[in-house]
Amino acid sequence: MSEMKDTMQVYHATPGGRLTGTIRVPGDKSISHRSIMLGALAEGVTEVTGFLEGEDALATMNVFRALGVQIEGPEQGRVTIHGVGLHGLKAPDMALDCGNSGTSMRLLAGLLAAQPFDCTLTGDASLTQRPMARVADPLRLMGARLETAAGGRPPLKIYGTPELHGLTYTLPMASAQVKSALLLAGLYAQGETVITEPEVTRDHTERMFEGFGVPVRREGRTIRVTGGHGLHATPIEVPGDISSAAFFLVGACISPGSDLRLQSVGVNPTRTGILDVLRLMGANLEIERSWIAGGEPLADLRVRATPLRGITIPTELVPLAIDEFPALFIAAACAEGRTILRGAAELRVKESDRIQVMADGLKALGIYTEVLPDGLIIEGGQGFGSGTVESHGDHRIAMSFSMAALCAQGPIEIRDCANVATSFPGFVSLACAAGLNLNAS
Ligand code: S3P
Repeated sequence: MSEMKDTMQVYHATPGGRLTGTIRVPGDKSISHRSIMLGALAEGVTEVTGFLEGEDALATMNVFRALGVQIEGPEQGRVTIHGVGLHGLKAPDMALDCGNSGTSMRLLAGLLAAQPFDCTLTGDASLTQRPMARVADPLRLMGARLETAAGGRPPLKIYGTPELHGLTYTLPMASAQVKSALLLAGLYAQGETVITEPEVTRDHTERMFEGFGVPVRREGRTIRVTGGHGLHATPIEVPGDISSAAFFLVGACISPGSDLRLQSVGVNPTRTGILDVLRLMGANLEIERSWIAGGEPLADLRVRATPLRGITIPTELVPLAIDEFPALFIAAACAEGRTILRGAAELRVKESDRIQVMADGLKALGIYTEVLPDGLIIEGGQGFGSGTVESHGDHRIAMSFSMAALCAQGPIEIRDCANVATSFPGFVSLACAAGLNLNAS
């Protein structure tokens, strides 16, 4: 059923247009997942506002319902979670379906490895191709018992082990999902769990642990938690997702005459690589107002069209913009000169191989690229032609190529777009309201 849906939706983008006015993008996906997870494990009732009603976060919500947690909503972004406490989850009576969502599967692997019951995590055709040994291996070092299918892929069969022990571990790759899985397992482990990251990645789990009253010690790239601390319910305001804002930031930069305001966007410094990269390319970006809500920084952003220049992307910005490269490649194709990205091999194991799939799509629109094992070289300034692009069911590829139409010479057709609903429900209507000529069939 979902595979039929995935291959059928096509976006038709008509060239031209500019982005103006004021918009608000849906809630942050990473924070929405974590709000359900920690709210479920807390003592008391957690009220969430601004929750992302996208398929990925809803998959996490449905998993917790199957684990016996009472959750009301979502209704206009409001969710009420009746926490069951650290030890209150119930054995599910079926496999837990994570859909397209790597965040659900990896974080749940850590959390469920520490329960006194067995369960199985499954997902859709894309998710079942993604690497899970990166979470299974370190969890086994904590005493967990998990089995993957061949090649370390899902489904994940978890044999509950309520006696995990703390771990001192250096992550072999920059991954907030793996870090978070280990921190969640660490909530249950005997003693201390000490995780060191090769590069700083998004820290929403650490911030939310603190919000729920679990002490987290952070020194540079090392994070420590001690098992056995209970969580206490706390209200959560989910900010707008900067990864969803990214498409509009790029779209406004590349379409002459654009002047767009984006309200209440999350600007956690572990997520703002997109702003830094666009600024290095010459973008006209302003932070108009900034504030903190529930331990997360937010801002209203204003972006105006301006000619961009190609750059070599600083590698230290890569993990801070990891989900934004499909959009940034569109900006690079419109920029004057060459853009070089390296140190981004992780892009190959996202919802699609985002290096190859973007290179293929850019080529279909007449842009010359050179594919590297860990990045991409894009020759900018040639202008997008007309053509058909395959998104391979990857939401961020589909939305990125929609923005390319703003400065294309002819129509762009984007195939396999239904998964946009995983992270950005209402994308087509919001994009049209802002000035894109886009329709779906
Ligand atoms: C996420 C972490 C990142 C990111 C994903 C969401 C998270 O994945 O790409 O969209 O919420 O922790 P990795 O940990 O695989 O880099």
